Amino acid sequence: MSSEAPVGVFDSGVGGLSVLGEIRARLPNESLLYVADSGHVPYGEKSPDYIRARCRQIADFLLERGAKALVVACNTATVAAVAELRERHPGLPIVGMEPAVKPAAAATRSGVVGVLATTGTLKSAKFAALLDRFAGDVRVLTQPCPGLVECVEQGALLAPQARALLESYVRPLLAEGCDTLILGCTHYPFLKPLLRQLVPVEVELIDTGAAVARQLERLLGERDLLAQGPAQPARFWSSSGPAALARVLPVLWGEPAAVAGLGC
Ligand code: DGL
Repeated sequence: MSSEAPVGVFDSGVGGLSVLGEIRARLPNESLLYVADSGHVPYGEKSPDYIRARCRQIADFLLERGAKALVVACNTATVAAVAELRERHPGLPIVGMEPAVKPAAAATRSGVVGVLATTGTLKSAKFAALLDRFAGDVRVLTQPCPGLVECVEQGALLAPQARALLESYVRPLLAEGCDTLILGCTHYPFLKPLLRQLVPVEVELIDTGAAVARQLERLLGERDLLAQGPAQPARFWSSSGPAALARVLPVLWGEPAAVAGLGC
C-alpha cells in the first residue's frame, strides 16, 4: 500500500464533513475520499443490522477506490459496525468515534454532563460501557435529538425549526445544572453557532473530530503510511444523488466541489 493512497471517510450524511475538516487541518498532505450516505439518513433511528449492511457496502466502495485507511465519521455507525469492519479488514487502519465522555467528565465543574446524540448511539451497549468506564462520579444525562440531523442535511443551521428543536433538547439539561455538553453526533458541531446562542457562555461544548484526526495520524504513522503530498483534491459521493451534497458543500466544507452519485 502506498502512503500517497487516499483516506476513505464516511457518514450517514453530511455530518462527517465536521470530521473531514479536522483531518484536512491536521493532515493537509492526505488525499481524501468522502461518502455521504444521505439516501439512507438518519442512521440514528435504524437497526444495527441495517447500518452494518450499509457500512459494509460503503467500506467496499472506498477500498475499491484505493483507500489505505477508513474513518467511520459517525458515532452511530461506529457503535453498530466498527467491530465488524475491523474483522472483515484485518490490518487496515480503521478509526471510529464515540462520544467524548472521558474529557467531559474531566472538564465538568458542576458534576453534571449532558450528551446529545442519536437514539442508536445512546441505547448501544458500547455507550453503556463507555459510561461505566469513564463517567465515575459524574452525573451523565443523555438526550436523543431526533430531527436535528435532518436540519443539518438541509444546511438549515440557523433555521427556526433547528432552534426550536435544539432549545427543547438542551433546556432540561441546563435546568439540571449541566455545565458540559458532549456533541455525540458528527452532524451537531455544525450547530455550534446556534447552540452558543442557546446556552450560557460558561457551558463547554465538546466534540471528538480533532481527536479522530490525531488517532488517524497515529495509526498511519505507525504503519509508515503518512502521505508526503501534495494532496489530490478531495472527492465526494452521495447516495441521495449529487445535487443536495453539492449545494451544502460550500457551507459545510468551505468550498464547492464536484460530487458523484454513489451506485450502492
Ligand atoms: N452523524 C451520525 C453520528 O455521528 C448520525 C446521524 C444519523 O442519525 O444519521 O451519529
